Amino acid sequence: MSRKPIIAGNWKMNNNKAEAKELVDGIMYGISQLDGSKMPEVVIAPSYTALWQAYDLIKNEPKIALAAQNVNPNPSGAYTGEVSINMLQDFKVKYVIIGHSERRQMFGETDEFINKKAKAILANSMLPIICCGETLEQREAGVTDSHLASQITKALQGLTSAEVEKSVIAYEPIWAIGTGKSCDSTEANRTIGEIRKVVANLYSQDTADKIRILYGGSVKPSTIVEQMAQSEIDGGLIGGASLKAESFVDLIKGAM
Ligand code: 13P
Repeated sequence: MSRKPIIAGNWKMNNNKAEAKELVDGIMYGISQLDGSKMPEVVIAPSYTALWQAYDLIKNEPKIALAAQNVNPNPSGAYTGEVSINMLQDFKVKYVIIGHSERRQMFGETDEFINKKAKAILANSMLPIICCGETLEQREAGVTDSHLASQITKALQGLTSAEVEKSVIAYEPIWAIGTGKSCDSTEANRTIGEIRKVVANLYSQDTADKIRILYGGSVKPSTIVEQMAQSEIDGGLIGGASLKAESFVDLIKGAM
């Protein structure tokens, strides 16, 4: 089963206009030196305020796709501070990251709200990158697999197999995010295999074989080759190491 790998940079709350331009220019220069036929799908997720500029800079560069870090699932209306799907479509946003642990933990997002976002995104021809992950306490208590199964089952509720096949899941153990301590590659591979089994049970083996499941959590140029060598890991969702063009391009090279 061949699944096209993805290297996705989640910029989080970083990069003003000038910084965003420097980073996108650097990534574009870096990938211009690479063999496009071997490249993974490259995705960048700037903050909302940098989306317009990123869109403008990459609009003639088919090798880079845009993602948003969030969306409100309601079509429009009195939701102060929120951004709609229709607004993201102005910038040809392909993916939207949903269910990130930072949004679950700091902004109280529930599985139900994440499911509502997934449905709205897919109904409007964009694709969700659905994040899931366990805390250190959950890992130590041995409930990682059941917790992830619950998160994924709730996030996918009501989606068709065709919708699930084109969606992306990112397994991001919370204890590995921003800590410099990546999950051991074989354990990340095992866990992602368990997530794939959940999808197979909910849908079919065929659907599970098609959905791409990324690993995220302190992915670095020094870890990516080993991570990409794992059979279940289809790429990376990267925070810190996506903020410098050189290291992001090294991550892309590591996935080639
Ligand atoms: P870091 O790569 O900085 O650990 O962040 C991972 C992440 O949360 C990506 O969404």
